[in-house]
Amino acid sequence: MPSTFLLLLLAAFIPGLVCQKTFAVQVGAQGNLAYDPPFIKAAQGDLIRFIFNPKNHSVTQSSFDSPCHPLTGGASSGFQFASNTSGLLDTWQFAVFSAANPFWFFCAQTQPVSHCGKGMVFAINPPAEPDPHSFDAFQRLAMSQASPTLSFTVTATITHDGSTFASVYTSYEGTPAPTYAPGGPVNHVVKVGVDGLSFSPSNISAAISDTVTFEFHPKNHTGTQSSFSHPCEPLEVTSTTGQVGFNSGFQFVSADTGFPTFQITINDTAPIWGYCSQPGPPKHCQSGMVFSINAVETGPNNFAAFKSLAMNGAILSGGVSTSSSALSSDPSQSVGGAANNGRWSVLISLIATAEVVGLS
Ligand SMILES: *[C@@H]1O[C@H](CO)[C@@H](O)[C@H](O)[C@H]1NC(C)=O
Ligand SMILES: *[C@@H]1O[C@H](CO)[C@@H](O)[C@H](O)[C@H]1NC(C)=O
Ligand SMILES: *[C@@H]1O[C@H](CO)[C@@H](O)[C@H](O)[C@H]1NC(C)=O
Ligand SMILES: *[C@@H]1O[C@H](CO)[C@@H](O)[C@H](O)[C@H]1NC(C)=O
Ligand SMILES: *[C@@H]1O[C@H](CO)[C@@H](O)[C@H](O)[C@H]1NC(C)=O
Repeated sequence: MPSTFLLLLLAAFIPGLVCQKTFAVQVGAQGNLAYDPPFIKAAQGDLIRFIFNPKNHSVTQSSFDSPCHPLTGGASSGFQFASNTSGLLDTWQFAVFSAANPFWFFCAQTQPVSHCGKGMVFAINPPAEPDPHSFDAFQRLAMSQASPTLSFTVTATITHDGSTFASVYTSYEGTPAPTYAPGGPVNHVVKVGVDGLSFSPSNISAAISDTVTFEFHPKNHTGTQSSFSHPCEPLEVTSTTGQVGFNSGFQFVSADTGFPTFQITINDTAPIWGYCSQPGPPKHCQSGMVFSINAVETGPNNFAAFKSLAMNGAILSGGVSTSSSALSSDPSQSVGGAANNGRWSVLISLIATAEVVGLS
């Protein structure tokens, strides 16, 4: 039967023509932030049909290294909004044009949370475990990178007995509104190096107009302001907005001298991060000698995360893209509004659009 033989021959050489398969992938089924199945082994020419369940998801191509960022020139379904499960669900197809390399995808939805950061990623032909580029590794990377913090520029104007103090700073989601210090400013004493390579206490809350006094104990430490994402570098080195941080400089203290001090005034409730810049050995910052003032403990950028970044040097790159619509345009809702007790008044205004700060 020469004709059958010819067909078989064709089948063997043109798999795209004869053996093309279509895989169905449910996007966000049952309200889960997941693709089902999460990855697929496909041949060249196969089709992947994505079925969009409620609510509002996308299938957006990324790279392994940057799971939650669209790949330049990559494929994307765009956002697919579905409100009704019983209606006909929208689909989007992706043709596997090459089986030589894996394809990586994520859901670009960031409202109200980053879907990618919750592990909503998908892959075609990922290498199997325990390959460092396995699907699980990709998903873990997505979840670790996607703890972005929305930062926005805030202007706080504080009026006190007829004088007005304005300060502009970068604030973060979840930061409490600036408040006056009830009963007047408080001085917080932070002992430096009294208990090994640490600040005691290491994480404090302080109100506007409070002071923080660093009291230096033996041997040779600093209190130097840094940023969340770069715990062990001076703020001015990594700031993209020209901020200059405070720095006590090295305070060499021997057993028989007094304890020198360095004082800062709290102007706003933006988180303040800092470290001891003694390079040692051992490097004090990398040994965990860091502090925070007004860290948002309920968010991802809490003091424990900061300390861990300092100690592990694990500065993760990337983050999740989002739009400025993430923020309410009503400044009083974004940062907590105005506090006023007659003597002090604090006014906050949102003056810049949101910007995403990953951990880089
Ligand atoms: C779907 O989500 C995107 C991104 O958050 C948003 O821009 C779009 O307005 C949403 N669509 C609907 C219909 O809500
Ligand atoms: C969902 O869609 C179905 C079919 O289009 C329609 O009959 C039903 O009324 C819709 N339900 C809602 C809640 O919109
Ligand atoms: C304190 O430490 C710094 C940095 O290591 C060093 O340059 C300085 O000389 C030290 N001061 C004293 C008095 O040892
Ligand atoms: C508070 O403002 C004063 C005056 O502008 C400045 O010297 C000080 O460094 C600020 N405090 C902090 C913690 O940035
Ligand atoms: C924050 O400070 C408190 C009180 O000093 C302390 O008990 C806690 O361990 C600190 N948190 C971290 C992560 O070190």
